[in-house]
Amino acid sequence: MSESEWITGRAGMLYRDLTPDSLKSQVIASHIRLPFDGEVPDYVHYHKVEFQVIYCLKGRIKVVYEDQGGAFWLEPGDLVVQPPEIRHRVLECEANSEVIEITMPAEHETWVEHEIKLPTDSVNPEKIFGTQRFVRKIGPKSGRADADFSKILLAITENMPVEQSINRVIHRIVPAIQKYLTTISSSISS
Ligand SMILES: [Fe+2]
Repeated sequence: MSESEWITGRAGMLYRDLTPDSLKSQVIASHIRLPFDGEVPDYVHYHKVEFQVIYCLKGRIKVVYEDQGGAFWLEPGDLVVQPPEIRHRVLECEANSEVIEITMPAEHETWVEHEIKLPTDSVNPEKIFGTQRFVRKIGPKSGRADADFSKILLAITENMPVEQSINRVIHRIVPAIQKYLTTISSSISS
């Protein structure tokens, strides 16, 4: 996978596209860097997706999700599956925190939520959004979490009731992303 440019995206976050050409019609994967130190200029929003997962590589990112209680920090090795249309917001972060985001389908809409405030008064971790629940997996929290990406992501998605077509794409894209992460972490440490 070639190292593409960093592009400024939603709420001032920096995105590097990691999607292999052969999967571009089905999925979009990005390495995202949050350049802020402290408050993030995000807003409550949601994505019209079939599947979306965020994996924290580095730093600390405070997030809040509809019906999942108070805000919490994503730290290296932590993962969240954001089910379809769950309202959420990034609140703050440590400078230059990094995540990997995988979303299906590649073309999807993001909407601003004007009514619902987060955190919501109701807490219901069992709530089904589309066909999925929100999933939060706490990782090993050690330094950079590049090396654990593939293992943690596949362990979660194998236990989720997602469609076969989604699972097939995950199994094709995860090794490609792991290869990219191994390359960049060896260039960081050398
Ligand atoms: Fe989002």
